[in-house]
Amino acid sequence: MPTTVRALQGDITQLPVQAIVNAANVSLLGGGGVDGAIHRAAGPQLLEECRHLGGCTTGAAKLTRGYRLPATYVIHTVGPVWHGGERGEPALLAACYRHSLELAAAQDIRSLAFPSISTGIYGYPFELAAQIAVNTVAAALQELTGFDEVIFCCFSAGDLQVYQRLLAAPPGAQPASA
Ligand code: AR6
Repeated sequence: MPTTVRALQGDITQLPVQAIVNAANVSLLGGGGVDGAIHRAAGPQLLEECRHLGGCTTGAAKLTRGYRLPATYVIHTVGPVWHGGERGEPALLAACYRHSLELAAAQDIRSLAFPSISTGIYGYPFELAAQIAVNTVAAALQELTGFDEVIFCCFSAGDLQVYQRLLAAPPGAQPASA
């Protein structure tokens, strides 16, 4: 069966999916934004597990359990800080989505929710980041066929509109990167 790819507005910490993705930093030791919300909702055992992971490089992804979250797992990935787009930001952001999906597939995870990585504290322009998210997930799902559902979890109604427009566009209608 083909994977359902959809966007919704909500708090990613509340979603009853098998795994949620965290927009973390290289330390993996917590922070603000969605990272802070995930650690608060999961409880202190999440930080304890993260302490043993040795951090994570930008564009890579690491897996932990979800503890008190509805999600069984958290996939921690580190998006690029936006510096204007000339420092490899599009490729690094795409790597976050691809590596998160590969890690999930290796763990037989069938449902996964992404926040909009890098678009908060890290300053990536929302629309450009959403294009990369939608295109990279669509390309990865050509090869990774074990997913039932991939969700883009948007924090605001305006963010959701952007994703819904991109998801409604025919494949290839958006530029592959910014
Ligand atoms: N559910 C869904 N989306 C959320 C939530 C939530 N509960 N909270 C925020 N967002 P950000 P970044 C959205 O800043 O830009 C941390 O300190 C938010 O509206 O969380 O990748 C880390 O430790 C935005 O669209 O992540 C790093 O140091 C998106 O999540 C740094 O922030 C990402 O915003 C990472 O910055």
